[in-house]
Amino acid sequence: MPMNRRNFIKVMGSSAVIVAAGSLNGCDSMPKSAIAPWRPQQAPHKDIRVQLLSYAILAPNPHNMQPWMVHLSSTSHRIILYCDSERLLPMTDPESRQIFIGHGAFLELLDLAASAQGYDTRIQYFPEGGFDPAQESRPVAIIDLVKNENRKKDPLFHEILKRRSTKEPFAATPLQASHAAELQTAFSDSQISMTTAMDPQQVQRLREWAWEAWKIEVFTPRTYQESVDVMRIGADEVAKHPDGIDILGTGIWWGRMFGMVSREKIADPKSEAFQVGVDQYEEMFQNTPGFLWMVSDNNSRPIQLRIGRAYARLNLKATQLGVAMHPVSQILQEYKEMQPLQQQFLKYLNVPKSHRMQLLMRVGYAEFPGPSPRRPVQDLFRCHGSSACAGVDVL
Ligand SMILES: Cc1cc2nc3c(=O)[nH]c(=O)nc-3n(C[C@H](O)[C@H](O)[C@H](O)COP(=O)(O)O)c2cc1C
Repeated sequence: MPMNRRNFIKVMGSSAVIVAAGSLNGCDSMPKSAIAPWRPQQAPHKDIRVQLLSYAILAPNPHNMQPWMVHLSSTSHRIILYCDSERLLPMTDPESRQIFIGHGAFLELLDLAASAQGYDTRIQYFPEGGFDPAQESRPVAIIDLVKNENRKKDPLFHEILKRRSTKEPFAATPLQASHAAELQTAFSDSQISMTTAMDPQQVQRLREWAWEAWKIEVFTPRTYQESVDVMRIGADEVAKHPDGIDILGTGIWWGRMFGMVSREKIADPKSEAFQVGVDQYEEMFQNTPGFLWMVSDNNSRPIQLRIGRAYARLNLKATQLGVAMHPVSQILQEYKEMQPLQQQFLKYLNVPKSHRMQLLMRVGYAEFPGPSPRRPVQDLFRCHGSSACAGVDVL
C-alpha cells in the first residue's frame, strides 16, 4: 500500500502499529465514563423506575441521539416519556420516523427490564395525539408499572448489555437458515413483516443499492453535515458528549496529531479523512452476506413505536444467536434527493405503495464491537427548561 496521507491514517490505526506503539496504545480509546451506563446492575437506584430506565437508555437509536426525556411523578408508578426536540435529525429524518423507532426500542427495553423485576408495563402511545416538534409537551408514551408476581423474566433481558449495532465488515458466511428462522420468532405483530435476503445475486443487488444511497447522503452537503455536526472526534469529545457518532481509535489519534483529522477535514469531500470514511463504508457494504428488512402496513406514529419494539427484540435475538446486525437506513430516508432511488428499490422488492419499509439491515457474522456511548440515566430528567418534564422530585 503506498504511504499517502489516507493510508497513513489507516495504517496508524492497524493492530501492528498499535502493538508497536506500546505505551501509546490506548490513545483515543473509549472513555470509561462514556460506557459506564452499560453496567446498570452495579448501582441499582432505589426507585424501580430509574432502575428500569437505566436499561431503556441502552436502546439502539438513530445516530445515537438518545432523543428521550422523562418525567417521574412522585405519587405513582408512572413514567412519562417525551421526545427531546433538540435531538432530532431534520435533514436525514425529516419526518422523525427513525427517531420514534428509537423511542419504540427504548420502550421495549424498559418492558424487558420490568419483566426481570416482576412488573407488567401498561403503555399508552401518544395519549395526547401525535408528535409535533412545536408541541414537545405532548408525551410519546405513558407507562404504568403494575406488580405481577407471575410475570417471568423475558430471556431477551439477558442480551440487553451485549447487544450492539455491528458497524464492521462481516464474514463471507451467509446467515444460517436456522438463524433466519429463529429471528422470525423474535417478535409477533400482525402489522409488521420481516424478510431476509440470502441469495447471492439478490444480496449483490441490494448491496449496490444500499451503497448508492449511502453515497447520496454523504455527497449531499446538508445531509452529510448533519452527521458531521454530531460526530464526537477523539476521547475528550466523547467523554464530554457521550452521544452522537463516536470517532475514536489510534489511527484517528495520530491523524489528529498530524493535522489530517478534524471536523473541518472530515466535512470536506476532498480530504483524505473524508475518503477514509468512504473506504470504510465501502468495505462494510462489500462484506455483507445478507440483508434483512421490516415493513409495516401503515406509517402512523404508533406503528413507528411498534417497529422500534420489534426491532429491539430482533437485535436482541440476533445477539443471543451470535448474529451481527447493522441498520443501513439511507435508502429509506424521506428527503427529496433520495426519492428516485428509493422508489426503484421498493419496486424491486415489491413493497406495496400502501406499506412502508421501516428498517433495512446488514446481517451476518462478525465479532461484536464494544458498546457505544450513553448519557447517564440522570440526563433523562434534564429537560433544558422544557415545561414537559419539570417537577422531577424523586432524584
Ligand atoms: C431507526 C434506526 C436507524 C439506524 N440507522 C443507522 C444507519 O443508517 N447507519 C448506521 O451505522 N447505524 C444506524 N443505526 C444504528 C445506530 O447508529 C445505533 O443504534 C447507535 O449508534 C447506538 O449504538 P448501539 O446500537 O450499538 O448501542 C440505526 C438505528 C436505528 C434505531
